[in-house]
Amino acid sequence: MTFELRNITRRFGNRTAVDAVTIEIPQGQMVGIIGRSGAGKSTLLRMINRLTDPTSGSIRFGDREVSSLKGAALREWHRDCAMIFQQFNLVPRLDVLTNVLLGRLNHRSTTLSMLSIFSREERIMAIAALERLGIEQTALQPAGTLSGGQQQRVAIARALMQTPKMLLADEPIASLDPLNAKIVMDALRDINEREGITVVTNLHTLDTARNYCDRIIGMAAGRVVFDGQPSDLTADAIHAIYGADKDGAGIDESMTSTSIKTPDAAQAAGALQSAGIQTLANARA
Ligand SMILES: Nc1ncnc2c1ncn2[C@@H]1O[C@H](COP(=O)(O)OP(=O)(O)OP(=O)(O)O)[C@@H](O)[C@H]1O
Ligand SMILES: [Mg+2]
Repeated sequence: MTFELRNITRRFGNRTAVDAVTIEIPQGQMVGIIGRSGAGKSTLLRMINRLTDPTSGSIRFGDREVSSLKGAALREWHRDCAMIFQQFNLVPRLDVLTNVLLGRLNHRSTTLSMLSIFSREERIMAIAALERLGIEQTALQPAGTLSGGQQQRVAIARALMQTPKMLLADEPIASLDPLNAKIVMDALRDINEREGITVVTNLHTLDTARNYCDRIIGMAAGRVVFDGQPSDLTADAIHAIYGADKDGAGIDESMTSTSIKTPDAAQAAGALQSAGIQTLANARA
């Protein structure tokens, strides 16, 4: 199913975070979004997942108008469109298996979800997801005791439990060492290729985008300034993406890297949200 953003804009006060973005993504593509800090990459992903509402414009997936979904239809979208984050957003005190099972919440009735009863089939599915990611031996450990690379794999396993059609990843490897970054990117690519799940990922390094993505979208100041294949990324294109600074500053390492700046509270809220708690709240409202 084709995914389409048409003229999507998001303003915060008088600041335009995302400025009239139009993108069409065929099912099964692996897309990397790059750009300097503040370019609007996270805001764009968050709008796709409906964590942030657009100020204007249209988001369509097949014949669904994503930007106006409510209630059960919105829950269905949260199931079809999984998201993983730089800071993993697991529930640290819960064991790994339960964290993965939380990915099923969007498939269930509110009552069953609140009772947290998971079927035998779901448990088998969760173990299989952990095996696929090579971390089944951690199933009974509290998620917070795992290394960053392992935690991100748990988050991917949780996303797989949703049987999504689309997987969004906001800087999934920005907090990981090179080896774990490779394991996580290989897993995303594998899911993209084997299941045909569309993957859209924000990335802070050009190399990773080049190595893993079919298509790269470059953003600067809220706009799409590049959209093409990795081989089309010329020096001029890279300058348009990373060098569009009105102060005329050059390109340096700090522009292509993202520092970790998530406050604890936001992180905790994110964990609940990823675990489907937000969905439950919506269901009750
Ligand atoms: N909730 C918010 N309230 C106010 N301004 C916001 C909010 N979220 C984002 N912005 C602003 O929107 C712009 C785009 O931010 P966004 O987080 O989308 O950038 P980014 O490309 O993901 O950057 P980074 O690489 O640092 O993660 C920034 O100027 C940011 O300050
Ligand atoms: Mg961001």
